[in-house]
Amino acid sequence: MTANYYRYHVFFCINQREAGQRCCGNHNSQAMRDYLKKRTKELGIVGRDGVRANTAGCMDRCKHGPVIVIYPEGVWYTGKIRMILMKLLASIYNRGALLNGCE
Ligand code: FES
Repeated sequence: MTANYYRYHVFFCINQREAGQRCCGNHNSQAMRDYLKKRTKELGIVGRDGVRANTAGCMDRCKHGPVIVIYPEGVWYTGKIRMILMKLLASIYNRGALLNGCE
């Protein structure tokens, strides 16, 4: 067993609440997860040492949605998720550090 199987393991809250209630599902979180999954496949960076996009249920940060958390850093991100994902993908090629979390 290895300490880090994936280089980045990204969890997307895709929880959808009743109409009118704040939740990540109201902020295209499923589409953002699908975007990352599609791009990582296109770029050939899936599997071991690559990027894994997983769905998650509510992470109890609903009012900050959409919410993702990226491991191994365990940093939470909210707001402009697509931009964060693009920076994540760029960081792989640039060998740079991932941006800071934005809670
Ligand atoms: S609905 Fe996403 S954190 Fe609760």
